[in-house]
Amino acid sequence: MSELQGKRVFVTGSGAGIGKAIAALFVQRGAQVVVSDVNAGAAERAAEEVGAAGVANCDVTDEGQVEAAVQQAVDLLGGLDVLVNNAGVEVSSPLLEQPTESFDKIFAVNVRGTFVTMKAAIPHLLASKGNIVNMASIAGVGGSPLLGSYCATKAAVIQMTRVAAVEMRPTGVRVNAVCPGFADTAMVDRLKPDFEAATQIPFGDLVAAKQGRLGTPEDIAEVAAFLASDRAAWVTGSHYVLDGGLTASLV
Ligand SMILES: NC(=O)c1ccc[n+]([C@@H]2O[C@H](COP(=O)([O-])OP(=O)(O)OC[C@H]3O[C@@H](n4cnc5c(N)ncnc54)[C@H](O)[C@@H]3O)[C@@H](O)[C@H]2O)c1
Repeated sequence: MSELQGKRVFVTGSGAGIGKAIAALFVQRGAQVVVSDVNAGAAERAAEEVGAAGVANCDVTDEGQVEAAVQQAVDLLGGLDVLVNNAGVEVSSPLLEQPTESFDKIFAVNVRGTFVTMKAAIPHLLASKGNIVNMASIAGVGGSPLLGSYCATKAAVIQMTRVAAVEMRPTGVRVNAVCPGFADTAMVDRLKPDFEAATQIPFGDLVAAKQGRLGTPEDIAEVAAFLASDRAAWVTGSHYVLDGGLTASLV
């Protein structure tokens, strides 16, 4: 399948996990992808592994770095058709016990990072009538103990997605979000011990009961690929949930 043939794509946080899987699948589907991460070594390795067109690193909390990396990607690719705003971090803490500094930090990456990267990319996406895929989460549509600030950031990502989509509609630029359930990455590995301690349920049992199995980064990359492709030409302002039915169930 070559649904992304010729698409010029910039993916933040693509040195590992879901971002790397997105970069890999997009390349397989015919896209030219520039990998980007705060971890330069991981980005270099991922770019080589997936056959990326290049690397343009940034820490998404630094607007100057983001602007420079987007420009670098545009120079490498000769333009930009798709921005995947994937970079994100988690914090595991009861909400009202979380230090304010840590609350500010997660918002700086997940919300402000998404915002400044959309701003940096939009002139190029206006030129190509391109699109944006923002990585939200089911944590943006439902609450979860230990993930209070994370849930708030992902709800903010969904809301920014909706508003940007509506404001951009007359221009032809589409903006969508992806909301995965628990997926098999380092982020979830870091969360497991705290969830098990809080619930007294083995994490594998919790996942099996609520969503059948862990998602794979490739499950999520498939949805991102669809949203980024011309097959999704009438899809904008949406947040696409993929969670093995977790949010569909009351029990
Ligand atoms: N894993 C899940 O279950 C899950 C579920 C829903 C949503 N998500 C979201 O998917 C995205 C990717 O998550 P993942 O599980 O692959 O995480 P991960 O921790 O495995 O990988 C995240 C990548 O982002 C990079 N990164 C972190 N901070 C950054 C910054 N300030 N600037 C640039 N890059 C930065 C990291 O270096 C890393 O390479 C995140 O936005 C996350 O919130 C993950």
